[in-house]
Parts: sequence; structure tokens; C-alpha cells
Amino acid sequence: MIGEVQQVRERFEKALAAAGDAQALEQVRIEFLGRNGGCIGELMNHLASLPKEAKPVFGKAVNELKAFAQGELAAAKGRLAAAGDAQRPRPDVTLPGRRPRLGRLHPITRARNQMVEIFARLGFTVAEGPEIEDEWHNFIALNIPEEHPARDPLDNYYIRDNLLLRTQTSTVQIRVMETTPPPVRMIMPGRVYRPDTVDAGHSNMFHQLEGLWVEEGVTMAHLKTMLDMFVHVFFGPDTRTRFRPSFFPFTEPSAEVDVSCLLCGGKGCPACKRSGWMEILGCGMVDPAVLKAVGYDPEKVTGFAFGFGIERPAMLKYGITDIRLLYQNDMRFLEQF
Ligand code: DAH
Repeated sequence: MIGEVQQVRERFEKALAAAGDAQALEQVRIEFLGRNGGCIGELMNHLASLPKEAKPVFGKAVNELKAFAQGELAAAKGRLAAAGDAQRPRPDVTLPGRRPRLGRLHPITRARNQMVEIFARLGFTVAEGPEIEDEWHNFIALNIPEEHPARDPLDNYYIRDNLLLRTQTSTVQIRVMETTPPPVRMIMPGRVYRPDTVDAGHSNMFHQLEGLWVEEGVTMAHLKTMLDMFVHVFFGPDTRTRFRPSFFPFTEPSAEVDVSCLLCGGKGCPACKRSGWMEILGCGMVDPAVLKAVGYDPEKVTGFAFGFGIERPAMLKYGITDIRLLYQNDMRFLEQF
């Protein structure tokens, strides 16, 4: 009888050695250890026919075989799992990590932040206004009469009667003064829209920065001082300014400000049309009609205002020659800043 146990053991060992995957292993388990009809369990059926003294020896041998078979099966399962793991690709922990792509500020944002910071140091706070405006804030309160060419429907993006995309940030001057009693000392950055033909120097959407200081005793001298300071900090201490008499409906007197050409330093080159100067902004003393329109008393307070595009100074400073590059989101361009 013990010989039979030995035979089953040999058959089990053969079957186990031949089992190459999990499914075959399971087959072996069922064949030898299955609850109903497993070979090792069946051996116990012989117990009854054995003489009394042989029973414990036989029982022990069968139990040992059972434990042996269970142990071998578990070990074989473990080996299969380990072999599977070894075949699976493993992460190479010695590889260098993937560098996250760092974002950076758009040149327009950078220029605007610098401008805002310079004026903040001069005591100006920031205000903003809506990009969809009514005619009161875009024209009427700014002393731009009905027949003024700037109000031609072809020169504006009208949405409907009395509602248009603002063409200038001067609109925010009006909004600020309507809601704030003097003194005010504010800058107002934002987008403006004009139906211009797009080329290297023009875009139908661009950014402006408006400035306004209204208080008792503010004069043209304050205006010149502030703008000189701004130009020296933004463009560099060697940059010179030139104030030329001009006209704007909302300022009197008005001026345009040129800076010495940033490319040739004022000697004259193609970029400045050989003049040595580049125009950067418009400004003036706030017209009494505008102060009246917002409910200020022009006999008591005076003020200055100025406005300039953000793109042009930014392009001059960073050496950008085509305004369209600023709006195309081309990483090859943007990554340079
Ligand atoms: N709003 C003018 C423009 O878009 C710029 C400007 C000129 C603004 C004179 C002002 C100013 O505040 O006083 O061309």
C-alpha cells in the first residue's frame, strides 16, 4: 500500500514538472488535491481494507504526501508569478526625470506689469473698465462731438446703437471720475478695438494704458515730470523726451510725446524715419468740459491725462518688429521672453 502512495507521489511530481502556466498548475491541483476524486484523497479509501496496525502508517504517509503536494504547488505558483514579473518592463529609476515645461509671462503682460509698477511707485493706483462701452463714455463725456471723424461708424466696432467696443482707454477716466470725488491719481490698462487694416504695425485689437491725475493745483509741470520719470525708468536713463503741441478733444493744451530713437539713439535711422525721434503717447491737461461732464468743478481742480499703446513701447524695448507676432501664440517666439 505504501508503494501506491509512492506511485501517486511520482505521478504528481511528473505532472507538476510538466505544468508550464497557471492553468496547467490548476489542472494538477484538481487532479491530485481536488475535493472530489483527487488522487491523494482517493488513497484514503484504501484505509478501511487495511489491517489495524497498518492504518496509522498509511494514514501518515498519505497526509505527508498531501502536505508535500500543497507545498510544491504553492512554490510552483510563486515561481510562475516571479517569472511573469521579470518579463514585464520595469521603470528605470536611474533615468533623468521629465522636466516640467515652465510657463512665462507674455511680452505684453510683462510690459504692462512694468508700466504699472513704475506708475505705482509714483502714487498711481490701477482701475479698469468695460471693453463694451456706450457713446457717453467713449465719446460724449470726452468732449468728442457728433460730427467728429473718430465717431464715423466705419472707424468703430459698433455692436448696436449706442454700444461699441471701446476705441480707447480714456473711457475709464470718465468712469473713475463719475464714481470717485477728487483727488484721483490712477492708471487704467486695457484692451481697445479699431477696425484698422492689420499689418506689421497695426492690429485691430491692442492694449493701452491711460493715466489720470486730478487734484487742486496739478499743472503741466507735474505731467512733464511724471512722463519723464516714466520714460527714463522704462526705456533707460539716456532716453530723451520731446513734448510737441498737439490736439485732443479731451485735453487743453494737448501734447504728443516722442522719445529719442531707441535704435539709433537720436542720430536718425530707418526705424525713426531719420528723425531721431519716435512718438509714443498723447497727453494734456484735462479739458474743463470733461471735468464738468463728470461733475467736477473745473474752477477748483485741474488735472492731466495721458494715454499710450502698450504694444509699441514693448516692441521697441524688446526689439519686436511685427505686432502680429504678439497675438499668434507661437511658442518659438514667446519662449524668447
Ligand atoms: N485716447 C488717445 C488715443 O487713443 C490717447 C490719449 C491722448 C489719451 C491724450 C489721453 C490724452 O488721456 O490726454 O489716441
